[in-house]
Amino acid sequence: MRIIIDDVAVLSRFAADLIAEQVSYRPDCTIGLATGSSPVPIYQELAARVASGELDLSRVRFFALDEYAGLGASHPMSYRYFLDEHVVGPCRLDPAQLRVLNGRAEDLDHECRDYEAAITAAGGIDLQILGIGHNGHIGFNEPTSSFGSRTRVVALTHQTVDANARFFDDDPEDVPLLALSQGIGTILEAGALVLIATGGGKAPAIRSAIEGELTSSVPASALQLHPQATFLVDEYAGAMLARSDFYRRERQVIARYGRTSPRRR
Ligand code: F6R
Repeated sequence: MRIIIDDVAVLSRFAADLIAEQVSYRPDCTIGLATGSSPVPIYQELAARVASGELDLSRVRFFALDEYAGLGASHPMSYRYFLDEHVVGPCRLDPAQLRVLNGRAEDLDHECRDYEAAITAAGGIDLQILGIGHNGHIGFNEPTSSFGSRTRVVALTHQTVDANARFFDDDPEDVPLLALSQGIGTILEAGALVLIATGGGKAPAIRSAIEGELTSSVPASALQLHPQATFLVDEYAGAMLARSDFYRRERQVIARYGRTSPRRR
């Protein structure tokens, strides 16, 4: 596990570097995308690199992490809409390069099984971008989700509904109570995981995920099991980490000895 503590601009460039390395290693790789506020600076950095001609994402396949049940692609709060706005357009992708769970599918369970099959058919996800909820969720895997869970229909906690109400004109009544989400087991199968967290509100969740017990009560603690997981946290989100001095030192030592990124699959 790597823990990088820095400012948002550095973290975004770091994440974009990891993505660019993955793409240069295999231009037709598969990347998993989170929505929400945290990854937006990463997507802006990717878009800037695409615009400057430094990065070509035209052969990459993308899979979204989750979607609200009941919201279609044209709904401005759907994650398909969000990713079209923040990634597909700015990164000049063909919309067909991005697959998002269909929240309006007639049979949601079938849609989830189909999604798992599509990820498998694509050869698995090489690099998955993640955010973290205040309650430690990843994707929409709320506390006590099984570490073995697969893509499925899930109920959202009150905390998540309240946190996401900011995207729905601050009205929690408008936030869907049901969603579709890659499972923790699905996420753990990705070749590399990159979780970004910024702001003091995330500090308790980050501390529990990185230094706390491995427990389904903190879904992000499952990343402790992954050999290629990187936590990108700003100084506020990292403020409660007991070993932050070591994480900073570890990065310096690794850089001094010229050890760079882990091998890609
Ligand atoms: C979104 C997702 C969620 C968010 C998390 C943090 O696709 O999977 O787990 O990453 O709720 O959201 P923000 O970044 O808005 O604080």
